[in-house]
Amino acid sequence: MSQRVYIFDTTLRDGEQVPGCQLTTEEKIVVAKELERLGVDVIEAGFPISSPGDFRSVVEISKAVSEPTICALSRAVKGDIDAAGEALKFAKRGRIHTGIGSSDIHIRNKFNSSRERILEQAVAAVKHAKSYVEDVEFYAEDAGRADLAFLAQLTRAVIGAGATVVNIPDTTGYCLPDEYGKKIAYIYEHVDNVHQATISIHCHNDLGLATANTLSGVMNGARQVEVTINGIGERAGNTSLEEVVMALKVRKELGFYTNVDSTRLYPVSNLVSQMMHMPVQANKAIVGRNAFAHSSGIHQDGFLKHSENYEIMNPQDVGIDKSMIVLTARSGRHALKHRLELLGYRYEKPDLDSLYVRFLDMADIRKEVNDKDLMELVR
Ligand code: KIV
Ligand code: ZN
Repeated sequence: MSQRVYIFDTTLRDGEQVPGCQLTTEEKIVVAKELERLGVDVIEAGFPISSPGDFRSVVEISKAVSEPTICALSRAVKGDIDAAGEALKFAKRGRIHTGIGSSDIHIRNKFNSSRERILEQAVAAVKHAKSYVEDVEFYAEDAGRADLAFLAQLTRAVIGAGATVVNIPDTTGYCLPDEYGKKIAYIYEHVDNVHQATISIHCHNDLGLATANTLSGVMNGARQVEVTINGIGERAGNTSLEEVVMALKVRKELGFYTNVDSTRLYPVSNLVSQMMHMPVQANKAIVGRNAFAHSSGIHQDGFLKHSENYEIMNPQDVGIDKSMIVLTARSGRHALKHRLELLGYRYEKPDLDSLYVRFLDMADIRKEVNDKDLMELVR
């Protein structure tokens, strides 16, 4: 039996923190409605104490969206939690996401505190958040570099205080997949009340390992993943929603599923990229311009014989119309013949061979040969 993995989207909070990516409340509502249509389970709508605009966004998104849980971020500070609770008052299902640093690096350098005081502050924050909403998520910031025994102690304490979800973030993108997976496994083995809560994963991409770490966390027991569209987020970004969703879908044998309608991935990726002025890199997995483009002769020939030779999913599965054969000087006769046929021209040897020689000359100069160029060649 497949198990459900819950998708917590933080495009509008961690993603929106990126310089240049700020959205107005109205724009955030457009994105939130698309996320709802996509089928995410939780939308982290903002950090209400941070600004009046962010407060208003959480209020308005709570009114505009009804299916997903609406989540508001707060530090483990009374004023933050009060703002989050207030901002969520119209949410059909509201969640407060509160937390504090858990690594000795953060405890010492950021909070000038001690493990004992952090534990007390964490428990008090969860209890206070519970006075506003039933659903309280706790984040143990910088869990990726935290002492394991302390992380387990903190997890046990906040679950005892009523946390329904505990987020184990690799805030600095420091962990390796095996190491991160073992961290989650350790928590399952050493926290006696762990089954009273959901363990959540929140990875950053500083070493390019966010998706790998997230999958490793899922394989070791976590059932919520915190992700963003196109992987946008602080510094090198967060785990990309589309990568995790498609990895779980393509590799069915892992035994997991999500509620996401994968055919909406490409349209939502485009929308977020345009609204946030964040171009998607051409070779980005799943939604990049080249994700379903074949350009070398060997690959094009194999792809034209059977798409399965070079594609592990159909472009339509992620909302892309069709795969592309890009004609360059690396293309072979098979691709040229195929493209000419799509344009209504049938060439067989030896005419195809002589056209191919002229095609290569053109491709060396123009780099990519488009349909207009081909028509020129034919003429
Ligand atoms: O990266 C992180 O630790 C965060 C927390 C606020 C959840 O974004
Ligand atoms: Zn983060």
